[in-house]
Amino acid sequence: MEKLKIAGGYPLQGSIRVSGAKNSAVALIPATILADSTVTIEGLPDISDVQMLKALLEEIGGEIDFRDGEMTVDPSKMISMPLPNGRVKKLRASYYLMGAMLGKFKKAVIGLPGGCHLGPRPIDQHIKGFEALGAQVTNEQGAIYLRADELRGAKIYLDVVSVGATINIMLAAVLAKGRTVIENAAKEPEIIDVATLLTNMGARIKGAGTDVIRIDGVEKLNGCRHTIIPDRIEAGTFMIMAAAVGQGIIIDNVIAQHVESLIAKLREMGVNIETGDDQIFVSPGSQLKSVDIKTLVYPGFPTDLQQPFTSLLTKTTGSSMVTDTIYGARFKHIDELRRMNAAIKVEGRAAIINGPAQLQGAKVKASDLRAGAALVIAGLMAEGITEVTGLEHIDRGYSHLVEKLSGLGATIWREEMTVEEIEQFKN
Ligand code: EPU
Repeated sequence: MEKLKIAGGYPLQGSIRVSGAKNSAVALIPATILADSTVTIEGLPDISDVQMLKALLEEIGGEIDFRDGEMTVDPSKMISMPLPNGRVKKLRASYYLMGAMLGKFKKAVIGLPGGCHLGPRPIDQHIKGFEALGAQVTNEQGAIYLRADELRGAKIYLDVVSVGATINIMLAAVLAKGRTVIENAAKEPEIIDVATLLTNMGARIKGAGTDVIRIDGVEKLNGCRHTIIPDRIEAGTFMIMAAAVGQGIIIDNVIAQHVESLIAKLREMGVNIETGDDQIFVSPGSQLKSVDIKTLVYPGFPTDLQQPFTSLLTKTTGSSMVTDTIYGARFKHIDELRRMNAAIKVEGRAAIINGPAQLQGAKVKASDLRAGAALVIAGLMAEGITEVTGLEHIDRGYSHLVEKLSGLGATIWREEMTVEEIEQFKN
């Protein structure tokens, strides 16, 4: 087991490249199950969630070649093998196996998903969608059993705007008979990316990226080649880092429109931002102003950037408020930031940050993926050495983070944890 060490307090400079989008990748890979022939996805990030899904598709008979970010999946020998335990419990996105396997085989057994602990994360809207399409869904001993004689298109209104439910229903509906209409659908770029892959496979989908998606079922889907979109959350993490400790940083391979809400907030704070075709240049202003943010569904400010943004806010003069309307309990990073000398209090769904505070290096624990990103940024801002444990969370979503940050001049390295440290970490 490893920990991350960061010698903070030094400015960073240069250019950093964004990888393919994690939250697309984890849906695109299960989507390949629906094809009858080989699908190739280019530009996948080198993260543990991708490796985990690759292994899960191999468990059900997929033949997969994965090198240099390019994954080729031959789904022709896949079967609807039950996956009640094991790897499915390790990542949240294993829920996409439900939609994809139900769509292809009309049956699936999938263990309830794991992933980051951000408070309650129900999947009732996914299940409501599967049932509307004609599936019987039961929960038996921690696994979801799905079965249908046939899937028929239906009109489904999502009570909660959900990325996962929108994609999962699309996956289940592309091979159903007739038309499915998803109303109050989520509009995240990852949904458009999955719809693009499915369309290239032969699916008939209209409206992805708006709040009404219409899907006309087809008999079969073919193989194709697809290039994944850049990771807007990784890009956003780097932009926040550049505002906190940069002396002029180019973020490369980014779609500026995908991070508009963040650009607007950073500019409001006094950060200089220039956007190019697929690059964003960030240089901090002379004094950063405090601002309030409220997380919302896309195109609002993303909940996944709320935690990294909190680290940046510790540097601003005055009081800032961060309200998370998506995950009201996504504040496990706050105690750790306090250990580093931040003045933050949590009141209900909001964190109130009083700055400026000079962060100090400390031993901290990443409780989830974006908390990890927040602590890495804080470590770069802090005086002295910061040690971050819980690296397995960071490795789920950030590809080659140490190498990328070292390329900007950061002093950051991985180190084996001692036996005593592992014991302490587990308690
Ligand atoms: N919700 C329900 N019922 C459902 C589904 C969702 O009540 O059936 C609620 C959730 O509890 C939450 C809200 O609806 O309050 C939004 O959840 P959503 O379903 O959109 O989240 P998700 O699909 O499970 C994805 C990302 C998350 C990201 C959220 C919100 C993936 C694999 N995960 O999760 O990413 O925070 O959308 O944008 O795409 C991350 O990358 O760190 C991460 C957690």
